[in-house]
Amino acid sequence: EKGGFEHFMLKEIFEQPRSISDCMRGRLDSATGRLVLGGLREYVNKLVNADRILIVACGTSWHAGLVAEYFFEEFCRIPVEVEYASEFRYRNPVVREGDVVIAISQSGETADTLAAIELAKSKGAIIFGVCNVVGSSIPRATHAGAYTHAGPEIGVASTKAFTAQLTVLNLIALIVAQKKGTITEQKFHELLVDMETIPAKVEKALKLNDQIKVIADTFKDASNFLYLGRGYNFPVALEGALKLKEISYIHAEGYPAAEMKHGPIALIDQEMPVVFIATQDSSYEKIVSNIQEVKARKGRVISVVTEGDKLIPKMSEFTIEVPAVHEALMPMVSVIPLQLLSYHIAVMRGCNVDQPRNLAKSVTVE
Ligand code: F6R
Repeated sequence: EKGGFEHFMLKEIFEQPRSISDCMRGRLDSATGRLVLGGLREYVNKLVNADRILIVACGTSWHAGLVAEYFFEEFCRIPVEVEYASEFRYRNPVVREGDVVIAISQSGETADTLAAIELAKSKGAIIFGVCNVVGSSIPRATHAGAYTHAGPEIGVASTKAFTAQLTVLNLIALIVAQKKGTITEQKFHELLVDMETIPAKVEKALKLNDQIKVIADTFKDASNFLYLGRGYNFPVALEGALKLKEISYIHAEGYPAAEMKHGPIALIDQEMPVVFIATQDSSYEKIVSNIQEVKARKGRVISVVTEGDKLIPKMSEFTIEVPAVHEALMPMVSVIPLQLLSYHIAVMRGCNVDQPRNLAKSVTVE
């Protein structure tokens, strides 16, 4: 059942080229410009005309929501708020007519997310669901939605569900952007073509596995980790830190790299591993300066960079090279080495990676 892998988590990490293609199958075809999500059709104009999008989710699904915020704002020009479902539901939130809610959940059973949906519904919002488990409670509570079709995720740490959520959210945003006319035909086409290259790029990133084992072995005894990114890679930093915390029990924090100087930089010393997600995008120069700031304080730099990067490897103790892709799609690729890093560290520390202490796969209690 684990398909020859030692753990479900590793199997699920390695399934991602397939789960991402499964998620796009029949929905996207760049050759014909076809882009459809059957479950959206009836309500798609609500999204096109939305004054605001509210995304509600928890944990890793909330991180997928943060990436979607950047994507929707860039290409659809709709303001987006990303909410922890548990905070949203208890704070008497403002939900207006014209607001559209997108709820993201792998299990479709998360109690806080379900309650946030019910609350928003009672205030008249239209709710879209992005879920993995077919027929679960959340898809039944929403007006419309799209499944991620990643297949069953058994490992408690979410991996393939995250990349499938990003895939579906990108598809939704591209449909909306095209209908709204907020994206040029050329950019739209480029992104469709790039989306289709993602499974092969993820496959290539998985080939880094042996190299990542060496990094894991070097840092397995660390008691803290920092993960830093900017722009589309900022939520990836949060996700990398969450993966490490939940399965290896090492304290880790994800931060937007530029926020370092507002406090966390005080943590840096020669013991502190700092993982930079620093692929070549519009914030590249800025993150190079952030790496220098960490180096100057003797932090141990591990960088995830775009293949062929000449500068950052010189500044890093370890460098992980991932294939180039449009920055808006990079999280689906740049998260892969971070999943592998947390997996190997957890295994080397003797942790139960598939069933970490204190955690359950579906959080059906608040
Ligand atoms: C992290 C993880 C959790 C879930 C969260 C939401 O690896 O698994 O943080 O992402 O409990 O779960 P779903 O997506 O099922 O609503």
